[in-house]
Amino acid sequence: MADTEPVINKGLEGIYFAESSICKVDGQAGKLYYRGYSIEELCGNSDFSEVSYLLLNDKLPNGNELEGFRQQLADERYLPKSVVDFIKENSMRMHPMDTLRSAVSMLPAYDTEAYDNSPGSNMRKSVKLISKSASIAATIGRVRSGGDYVMPDQSMGHVESFLYMLNGRKPDPKTVKILDVMFIVHAEHSSNASTFGVIVAGSTLADIYAATTAGIAVLKGPLHGGADEAALEMMYNIGDPDNTEKYIEDALAGKQKIMGFGHRVYKTYDPRARIVKGYLEDLQTNGSGELKNLSQIALRAEKLMIDKLGASKGIWPNIDFFAGPVYVSLGIQHEIFTPIFAASRMSGWCAHMLEYWKNNRLLRPLEKYTGQVDLKYVRIEDRK
Ligand code: CMC
Repeated sequence: MADTEPVINKGLEGIYFAESSICKVDGQAGKLYYRGYSIEELCGNSDFSEVSYLLLNDKLPNGNELEGFRQQLADERYLPKSVVDFIKENSMRMHPMDTLRSAVSMLPAYDTEAYDNSPGSNMRKSVKLISKSASIAATIGRVRSGGDYVMPDQSMGHVESFLYMLNGRKPDPKTVKILDVMFIVHAEHSSNASTFGVIVAGSTLADIYAATTAGIAVLKGPLHGGADEAALEMMYNIGDPDNTEKYIEDALAGKQKIMGFGHRVYKTYDPRARIVKGYLEDLQTNGSGELKNLSQIALRAEKLMIDKLGASKGIWPNIDFFAGPVYVSLGIQHEIFTPIFAASRMSGWCAHMLEYWKNNRLLRPLEKYTGQVDLKYVRIEDRK
């Protein structure tokens, strides 16, 4: 028995299941690279559309390629009427991530090559998914705040158009720039739970719509993408910056997890969190009212958590901790934080699917069975 006893890696911790050249997460050094470029390099010089091209194509585009890619994204931005009607009809009755998931899963109905699994078709569908998921997320936010569908403006950039469809007015360049960085830092993160979910679904040779719909389902939970909204909710519960330390101490004493902290791979500061924190520090100095309060709470909570759990347990802030207050500063409502995460991560999900299908193998791990065998069937009238 001892010879065959399986080793269980709870949560699949430490298990490699494939090779990939898309993303390197160095959890010890706190470094993140997309296709070899550090996240700092990309946030400082690029934009989400170009980063999406890089993720999908494994190279930075030249001028013509980038222009063509931006045009493809713009051409795909409109939503079919029945998708808009679905959002209008249902988005007040379910979580925005459920609306997003359902709306994305309607898209094959409007795609004549939906079930063509060739690489060229999948690349076109990836562009469609990146573009339309942002339009869907914006429309969900718009409808939930009482507005009507805003027809996309094809002359706008991807993130500019997202904000235009969300708010019905042209956004200012500073807001576009900050949100663009938020899209970049959320675009990819190796084999995180949702990307793994996408690949599991795709490994059955289900199509890219099915696979990315699975990704949206996996991203929803508060241990993954939903942590940004949950962290912000905690900050609102704290209310006054002077309550921060007691609130966190009490939560930890009650064995609660503090949302927005900890990571399976990073055992030091998440480099994405450092980038997002920069905007928060600005808010602490230049913000007012609610924003100043939120940023103070976030920064005081961060200090306490690092003092208590940083070096001792390797629990540091992750990207989701600072994202909420930054979105609030951009006027974005809480319930679409995670849909924005999904619309950004769509680039990474599609890049992974395109890569995995080049060398596909069905993903099928094992469970150690701990139940009984050879039980005898008991007729219902003889059961107690
Ligand atoms: N607050 C307090 N304690 C924590 C936290 C936290 N946020 N995260 C982990 N711990 C403790 C946990 O209680 C456990 O302690 P002990 O060994 O005494 O039982 C230990 O650290 C290990 O925790 P774990 O849950 O087994 O670790 P994991 O590698 O499975 O978890 C995690 C990773 C992200 C699920 C976890 O850190 C967590 O639940 N964090 C809060 C949710 C969150 O912020 N999620 C966003 C992750 S980053 C963005 C994304 O990719 O989605």
